Amino acid sequence: MKKEAKKTQDIFKTLCEIGKDLSATMDSDELLTKIMEGAKQICDVRADSILLLDKKKEELYFRIALGEKGEEIKKVVLPVGEGIAGWVAKSGQPLIVNDVSLDPRFSKAVDEKTKLKTKSILCVPIKFKEEILGVIEVLNKSNDKEFTAEDLQYLTVLASQAAVALNNSLLMDELHNFFVNTIEILVMAIEAVEPESKGHAVRIARLATAMARQLKFNQKDYEDLYYAALIHDIGKLKIEEPKQFHPIIGAEMVKEIKLLLGTIPLIKSHHEHYDGKGYPEGLKGDMIPVGAGILAIAEDFEEQFLNMRIMDRGIFAEMKKRFLSDANMRYAPEVISAFAEVMILSTDIYDFL
Ligand SMILES: [Fe+2]
Repeated sequence: MKKEAKKTQDIFKTLCEIGKDLSATMDSDELLTKIMEGAKQICDVRADSILLLDKKKEELYFRIALGEKGEEIKKVVLPVGEGIAGWVAKSGQPLIVNDVSLDPRFSKAVDEKTKLKTKSILCVPIKFKEEILGVIEVLNKSNDKEFTAEDLQYLTVLASQAAVALNNSLLMDELHNFFVNTIEILVMAIEAVEPESKGHAVRIARLATAMARQLKFNQKDYEDLYYAALIHDIGKLKIEEPKQFHPIIGAEMVKEIKLLLGTIPLIKSHHEHYDGKGYPEGLKGDMIPVGAGILAIAEDFEEQFLNMRIMDRGIFAEMKKRFLSDANMRYAPEVISAFAEVMILSTDIYDFL
C-alpha cells in the first residue's frame, strides 16, 4: 500500500474510533483527551490544546493541553480577541498561521509564561449549532513543515467531535443539577410532614456517608447511600398509611426513577434489625444490605438525639455510650464499629454541640 493511502486509512481509523467512543462514554475529559491525542497524530504535531470559552468573563481557558509544558499552559487565561486562539473564538473562523512572527494577531503571552517557542499554529473553532464553545489548536508541525488545507479539514472534523462531547457533558451536568434539586425539594416536602425533624435527613446523610467512608464503600454504593439517606422517609408523605409501612411505600415511590434504583433496597430495609426484630420484613443478619444497616443505626441515633434535644456535650457523650451498649443485637457488628469510629472522629455532624 502506498504511504499516502496508508496514512489516510490510519486517519480514518482514528476518527472512527473517536466516533465510537463518543457514543460509549460520558466522561468528557477522557473523550477530549482522546480527541486531542488523535489531533496530535493526524496533524503530526508535538503539542495541542482545547480552550473553552467563558462567555461571562469573555475569556478562553485551557481544558486540555497535551505535550511538553501542558500543565503550565493550563494556568494561562486568554481574553477573547487576543492571540490566534482569541481571534478564532471571536470570529468563528479557522486559521492557519505558518509563521507566527509575521502575523500581528499572534500574542506572545503564552510563550512567555511557559517558555515554549511557537512557530506555527492551526486553530479551528468548536461550534455546536452555531454557538462557539471554544477552540482547538495544534502547534509546530514536525520537521518545520507547513500546515495544509488537509490538516485543517481533519481538525475541523475533530472539533465537531469535541463539540458533541462537550454538549453531552453539559447535558449531563444539567441533568445532575436537576436531580440534586429535585432531591432537595423532596427532602423539604418530607420535613414539612414532621416539622420538628428539620435538618434530620441532612444529619443522617452526613452520619451515614461518614460511616460509608469508614467501610470503604465504592463510589456507586456511596452515592446510593447518600441519596437513600436524604429520602429514606419519603414513604411518610403518604400520611394516610400506617407509619410502619413507610419503608415499603418509600421504595415503591422511587422505583420508576432510574437514577434512584440503587436506593430502593436501602429505603426498604432501613428499619430492619440485625436480630430480625425490625420491620417491614423482619430480615436478619446478612440479609440486610450494609447500607440499610447504616441507615438504621443513623436514624435510630438521630431519633434519640431529637427526642432528647441535647445541647450539652456531657449528656451527648453519655447518650453515645448508652446507645452503643444497647446496639449489640440490633445492628451488624461492622456497622457498629463504623458508627463508633465516626462518633470518635466526627466533629461536624453534631458540630453545634
Ligand atoms: Fe424511617
